[in-house]
Amino acid sequence: MINRSWKRRDLLNAAIALGLAPNLSFAEPERMLTRTIPGTDESIPVVGLGTWDVFDVAGSREEIEARKEIIGMLLDRGGSVIDSSPMYNRSEKIVGDIINETGGRSNLFLATKVWIDGRSAGESQMRRSRDLMYAGVIDLMQVHNLRDVDVHMATIREWQEKGCIRYNGITHYTASAHRSMEKAMQDHKPQFIQINYSLGERHAEQHVLPLAQDLGIAVLINRPFMAGRLFHAVRNQELPAWIAEFADSWGRFFLKFILGHPAVTCVIPATSKPHHMVDNLGAGFGAMPDAATRKKMAALWESL
Ligand SMILES: NC(=O)c1ccc[n+]([C@@H]2O[C@H](COP(=O)([O-])OP(=O)(O)OC[C@H]3O[C@@H](n4cnc5c(N)ncnc54)[C@H](OP(=O)(O)O)[C@@H]3O)[C@@H](O)[C@H]2O)c1
Repeated sequence: MINRSWKRRDLLNAAIALGLAPNLSFAEPERMLTRTIPGTDESIPVVGLGTWDVFDVAGSREEIEARKEIIGMLLDRGGSVIDSSPMYNRSEKIVGDIINETGGRSNLFLATKVWIDGRSAGESQMRRSRDLMYAGVIDLMQVHNLRDVDVHMATIREWQEKGCIRYNGITHYTASAHRSMEKAMQDHKPQFIQINYSLGERHAEQHVLPLAQDLGIAVLINRPFMAGRLFHAVRNQELPAWIAEFADSWGRFFLKFILGHPAVTCVIPATSKPHHMVDNLGAGFGAMPDAATRKKMAALWESL
């Protein structure tokens, strides 16, 4: 069973073990902040879960239990977005098996991707993802790394008309692809983009994020910790006192910097560890930094 007993007290205990207790005060609201998908009246919670690498596991009892706990915590704290891809090997299956066993589907916003060439191969891959994830209707189907984007966007739109997919999107994860991403945004007007953005990779601020705002496109942020590298840069560094209003851990500092950008809809950090999930989910609560505070956060990062 999914561990749905991760209630407030358990989160506090886990947070105390991490030295994070002050920010999980009883003044915290119970549900995570949400943001509207532009052009709709639907909102999604601001912190989700990435599955690259961390859900690609052989499936030992210990590995599955940790991931059940992570998905259970996401749901308990009012989160819903899980991002996967057929490129992530066993990740879609692990997510699907957990959903199938625990019955959490209706509260989840399941995003996956198509990552292959050709219409027919794309359709087979999307059907396989749907089945592996026990999605029924897929909430968000994204063209992974813009691969064969013209072909797949046409297919995804057809599936949307048939009611098999709710939203369409396109993804990439490198600054060198941002020009191509901008072109695809103009050409296809997707409902979502997914792009890399963090204190360590700020290139999307130049054009991609403003363009998403102009075109009314929802934005998922991948690589919020640069695949974990941001934590190496702050090892043994104290958080400054002025940030206490927003964050009491580096993880929350990094995530809130991203969530403070007005174009961002949801951030999808990946983790294999329940105590890191507690940390990451905490970024979806409380005050978000304004433009002046984000500037200070960036200056601090650059001074490290
Ligand atoms: N082209 C694309 O579409 C694309 C490309 C890249 C990523 N993505 C999506 O975006 C998701 C996130 O990006 P990512 O997986 O590259 O990397 P990330 O989320 O930037 O970083 C994940 C790493 O950070 C560590 N971590 C997570 N929370 C932590 C915490 N609170 N404290 C310390 N360490 C922590 C994790 O290790 P632990 O397991 O030890 O917690 C993991 O090694 C992916 O999983 C995927 O779903 C999509």
